[in-house]
Amino acid sequence: MEVSTPSIKQILDPRIDPKTKRMDVGGLLIPPTSLITALLYGFANHEHLRAKEYYFWRICDELWNHDDLPEKLMIRHPWAEKMIWAALNNKYLAIGGSASSGKSHTMAAWGIANWLSKPKDTLVLMTSTTLREARKRIWGSVMSLLSVIDDAPIKIRDSIGNASYVNEKGTLIERAGLSLIAAEKTRTREATNKLIGIKAPRVILIGDELSELSEAILQAGLSNLSKNPEFQLIGMSNPNSRFDAFGIWSEPINGWDSVDTHTADGWATTRQANTSLSSGRLFI
Ligand SMILES: Nc1ncnc2c1ncn2[C@@H]1O[C@H](COP(=O)(O)OP(=O)(O)O)[C@@H](O)[C@H]1O
Ligand SMILES: [Mg+2]
Repeated sequence: MEVSTPSIKQILDPRIDPKTKRMDVGGLLIPPTSLITALLYGFANHEHLRAKEYYFWRICDELWNHDDLPEKLMIRHPWAEKMIWAALNNKYLAIGGSASSGKSHTMAAWGIANWLSKPKDTLVLMTSTTLREARKRIWGSVMSLLSVIDDAPIKIRDSIGNASYVNEKGTLIERAGLSLIAAEKTRTREATNKLIGIKAPRVILIGDELSELSEAILQAGLSNLSKNPEFQLIGMSNPNSRFDAFGIWSEPINGWDSVDTHTADGWATTRQANTSLSSGRLFI
């Protein structure tokens, strides 16, 4: 008799269990639902990181890479794969890489998938320099990725850089969804004021273009937003200086002299020394 090991797809892909008539999502049993809902459920609830990773990429294929679209919007290329794996593993993460290496786009997809998987409870905040610039940067990716999702419970207000959750009653919930924070240096105070006092069960702050922003943004994020029950901070940039906001955010745990930045592509950052939580830097 031939015994074949089941593939990861066979183990994790949602299917109806013929015996119980329940939907089996990688061993989690739920009432039968649509494929995308089941994949989002698996992404939000599976305890294994490799399973979450699987569901993330399956969600991307269902939402952004299907045949009805003129092109694939979220390709699983090796850098994107590395970034997503790092985001799954680290509460605090720095991502450095050259221009157009997919940092903003990949994290826009990360933000949307996380929000969709727990839409009532998740607030994704994204920084950029100005609203105008952001349309060419991370917010542009958010808009293009959101625009092809049918029936998402969201109201998009592009003019103010906001996409808020709309609940079953049709009420707009500002504390859930995705929101852009224009944080160029001259508007630091306004931007940090926005971060102070934000409360949501889960907050993900994606600090994009960090080299161009003040470090106060990170401090405001860390001292205020980290009080929320679930919090993640991902800071990204084209690295520019060890002394700007991104340089400080990505500093190796044992100082810059401890790594060869020409060859190293990842290290633990000082955040790890300050907290017991996982933190890391990924260089793509
Ligand atoms: N995984 C991907 N799949 C499809 N298109 C991508 C992907 N990553 C990036 N892109 C495209 O490349 C462009 C540049 O990537 P971007 O994320 O803005 O780079 P960076 O932020 O590193 O400068 C994006 O606007 C998007 O259109
Ligand atoms: Mg970018």
